[in-house]
Amino acid sequence: MRGQVSCRLLLLLLCVTSLQVAYGVTNSQDAAALKSLMSQWQNVPSSWKQSTDPCDAPWDGIQCTNGRVTHLLLPAMNIKGKLTDDVGLLTELQYLDISSNPDLGGSLPASIGKLQKLMNLILQGCSFSGTIPSEIGNLRNLTFLALNSNKFSGSIPYTIGLLSNLYWLDLADNQLTGSIPISSGTTPGLDFLVNTRHFHFNKNQLSGTLNATLFSSNMNLIHMIFDSNNFSGPIPDTIGLMKTLEILQLDNNQLSGNIPTNITSLTGLNVLNLANNQLTGLVPNLAPLTNLNSLDLSNNSFASSTAPTWMTTLNSLYTLAMENIQLTGQIPPKLFTLAQIQQVLLDSNRFNGTLDMGSNLGQNLEKVSIRNNSITDANVTSSYNGSISLINNPLCQLAKYSNNLYCQNQQNLTPYTTSLTRCGSTTCPNAQMLSPRNCTCAYPFSGLMVFRAPSFKDISDTAMFQELESSLWSQLTLAPNSVYISDVAITGDKYIEANVALFPMSGLYFSASDVIRLGFDLNNQTYQAPAMFGPYYFIQYPYQFPGSGSSSSSISTAAIAGIAVGGCVVLIALALVAVYALKQRRKAKEAAVLANPFASWGSGGKDDGSAPQLKGAKYFTFEELKKCTGNFSENNEIGQGGYGKVYKGYLANGVVVAIKRAKQGSMQGAQEFKNEIELLSRVHHKNLVGLVGFCYEQGEQLLVYEYVSNGTLRENLVGKGGMHLDWRKRLQIALGSAKGLAYLHELAHPPIIHRDIKSTNILLDDSLTAKVADFGLSKLLADTQKGHVSTQVKGTLGYLDPEYYMTQQLSEKSDVYSFGVVMLELITARQPIEKGTYIVREIKTAIDQYDQEYSGLRDMIDPKILNQAKNIGLRKFVQLALECVQDSASNRPSMNEVVKEIEIILQNDDDSTRTTSVNSSNDFGNAANLPKHPYSDQDPIIRDISSNAFDSSGAYPYQAYIEPK
Ligand SMILES: *[C@@H]1O[C@H](CO)[C@@H](O)[C@H](O)[C@H]1NC(C)=O
Ligand SMILES: *[C@@H]1O[C@H](CO)[C@@H](O)[C@H](O)[C@H]1NC(C)=O
Ligand SMILES: *[C@@H]1O[C@H](CO)[C@@H](O)[C@H](O)[C@H]1NC(C)=O
Ligand SMILES: *[C@@H]1O[C@H](CO)[C@@H](O)[C@H](O)[C@H]1NC(C)=O
Repeated sequence: MRGQVSCRLLLLLLCVTSLQVAYGVTNSQDAAALKSLMSQWQNVPSSWKQSTDPCDAPWDGIQCTNGRVTHLLLPAMNIKGKLTDDVGLLTELQYLDISSNPDLGGSLPASIGKLQKLMNLILQGCSFSGTIPSEIGNLRNLTFLALNSNKFSGSIPYTIGLLSNLYWLDLADNQLTGSIPISSGTTPGLDFLVNTRHFHFNKNQLSGTLNATLFSSNMNLIHMIFDSNNFSGPIPDTIGLMKTLEILQLDNNQLSGNIPTNITSLTGLNVLNLANNQLTGLVPNLAPLTNLNSLDLSNNSFASSTAPTWMTTLNSLYTLAMENIQLTGQIPPKLFTLAQIQQVLLDSNRFNGTLDMGSNLGQNLEKVSIRNNSITDANVTSSYNGSISLINNPLCQLAKYSNNLYCQNQQNLTPYTTSLTRCGSTTCPNAQMLSPRNCTCAYPFSGLMVFRAPSFKDISDTAMFQELESSLWSQLTLAPNSVYISDVAITGDKYIEANVALFPMSGLYFSASDVIRLGFDLNNQTYQAPAMFGPYYFIQYPYQFPGSGSSSSSISTAAIAGIAVGGCVVLIALALVAVYALKQRRKAKEAAVLANPFASWGSGGKDDGSAPQLKGAKYFTFEELKKCTGNFSENNEIGQGGYGKVYKGYLANGVVVAIKRAKQGSMQGAQEFKNEIELLSRVHHKNLVGLVGFCYEQGEQLLVYEYVSNGTLRENLVGKGGMHLDWRKRLQIALGSAKGLAYLHELAHPPIIHRDIKSTNILLDDSLTAKVADFGLSKLLADTQKGHVSTQVKGTLGYLDPEYYMTQQLSEKSDVYSFGVVMLELITARQPIEKGTYIVREIKTAIDQYDQEYSGLRDMIDPKILNQAKNIGLRKFVQLALECVQDSASNRPSMNEVVKEIEIILQNDDDSTRTTSVNSSNDFGNAANLPKHPYSDQDPIIRDISSNAFDSSGAYPYQAYIEPK
């Protein structure tokens, strides 16, 4: 192994050197750096080849000046791997954007500090971890730094204060701790960043007080987004000096003390959010803030008062939220007459008397929420057709209101979606979508747009979102109306999110360079969203390039990643093939002597000693099987895979069977076929699909299995199987399939590793008994001593054990990993990989370690079992699943342990449902109103590739060449 690696390296070096000589366009240091990065990354664009010159070819995402690489742009390419030290060799680099590659991570190397010309560094939406290296402070030309949505930890390096050209600093959504560095003596701090307009530090664990020095008149910030951290202490009165501020978001911290009156100097403010702190005293008169669109002061400890009159003078307000701050007396009617007002949210105060909304309501008013107050009557003009919620007010006790809508849970707003009604019922193939421009199908460029500080909260506002659409197509120079917006939602953080899909001018696809251009324009804020949306960030979904998409290119790149040295490998492989061919010619003669072990046996049914040793499995003639499937008619087809098709058949004795017929070119050798049926015939368990028999004649290989009537687990999870899978049934299915697997691992002799556990390989019968199917990839453990087998990587993307994938050491724990993924599917009903997001990573992120309640999980739970979201058993189940998908195989439980755990969960569920089932529902309101998971109603984007990704020939999985004796 070692020898092989160093040999490969040597060859690689030879190749690189010789190419240098051959082309020489790219500076040799830059070329070496890129080729080194490439060798460590999976899924680079197909134009990246070891055999070509990066600047000359050129490689997608690479731009050069005089042979030096100035741009390295690979957003959302699904790149996997690490950014190694070699990046430091690209010393002329100005733009580095490798964002939205969720599997690109590791630590950010200190050598990044060598890129002194760098202007944009964009790493958002990857999985970088560890501390931000202090060498980042050497990048003096940097104007744009986006490290958001990674897993950076530790404190913010004070050296960032040296980046005097910085315009945009986004550190949001990481795990940063400590306080914001402030200069002292010769040590720099972020208060040095007087040219920076954006501080986006939300969603970290930053702490300490807000240092007055940071809020100085030297600063020119327009966005200060510090929400969802652990900042404490008072808001300094120097806040009033930040005259340029437009958005100030300090909510969800532990700030205390009074709001300083100096805040009223910030007359340019559009968004002021101080909610969820421990602020006290009286709120100062905010009347001077005449540009305020959104004001949220909810959930603080202010002194009780009546509704301040200044509230009714803020004529630019779209959203007013003052929940749970002890307001008393009458609600001022004028509040509802503000020109722009859309939402008035006053829950959990002590308002009393009659709700009088006056007659001159604001044209845009659509939501009024005054739950948990002391309102005794209501006077609402009949012209108002928005919602009013008065639940938990004395008024709801009155007979005349008992059936009134005010006192009932109301429909949430219907989120905006770009209309496709004029396209009729046209549907598109997998991964394509309808363009609203001309109702044709194409592969869109798409991603999630997140608005962290929107000025409005009305996600049904058609005009607002249509403005977003037109700004997108016009600024990004697309054809008019080629933007589709869907899945608009308000997140738990009160951010607005939307899926955005952009369509090509013509044809099915964007070119690779267009995809990179669009990604970069959205990532570095060249595109500017309408002001009301506030700052955004964009997490792009990987693009489905021709030939990649549901099958080969990018994935088969992954498959050969272990030897990802591109063109050179091809050359070497050619040489090896030649040698092999010579050897084969010699062996052919010997091989001819070794007759097919089935030859005499197959046709006549005579046992000549080489017949397979079968336990209970029957031999069928081809004629029999042909007859019982109606000549393999299409009507009887029930499945298809890389190996061939599966038919339903009716045996003469009335038994229904599933017949798997290997197609031409995917037959295995006689020996392997014999091995397989021997293996399958030995396996008998109620949770495993049993082998009934087989056929081997007339150049055909067929396996006959028991027929399982209710389809696959996946079909049933997405509602195509006709079975409603409630939580209990899911637990039983998990238990059944776990038992089947445990049997294979621990009770079969020799033990068997399944190698392709996935929800389409778990079948359900009439009584919903789970049966594990398709042992096609199974591997006997017999030929190993140490519990693992080194073998060519096979399996299905999304279920594949990363450790096995890296080391090619197969063990039972690889099945445990895949089974963990299936468990997560049972919870979410999602595909393991959907639009570039990986369920394992999503769930791990959703339930951070500081989230004991697993509340982050809620949005991911299958709506069909959402009523279980607070079920302890469900949390235990998720915990168990996460143990199964531990990166390191040694940390995963055995299948036997998994069986025991699920049994306990099921047992406890039995006990608790008997006592608590009455009020277990509706913890989260109406499930139907929850935002739909993006693309949940579409077919999988990445389809099952087990038959072609790791097995380039598309052949039956046993490929190993068996040496004839
Ligand atoms: C980058 O920095 C160098 C000095 O290190 C300076 O000469 C050059 O003008 C800067 N480039 C830009 C675009 O700011
Ligand atoms: C602000 O930061 C400076 C420099 O680190 C420090 O000396 C000062 O005590 C800080 N002020 C507060 C109120 O924390
Ligand atoms: C804040 O306002 C108070 C009262 O108007 C004033 O005395 C103080 O100087 C202001 N602070 C700053 C830093 O401007
Ligand atoms: C409303 O509450 C205030 C103070 O809590 C009280 O003075 C007033 O009389 C109440 N008004 C009505 C109509 O109950």
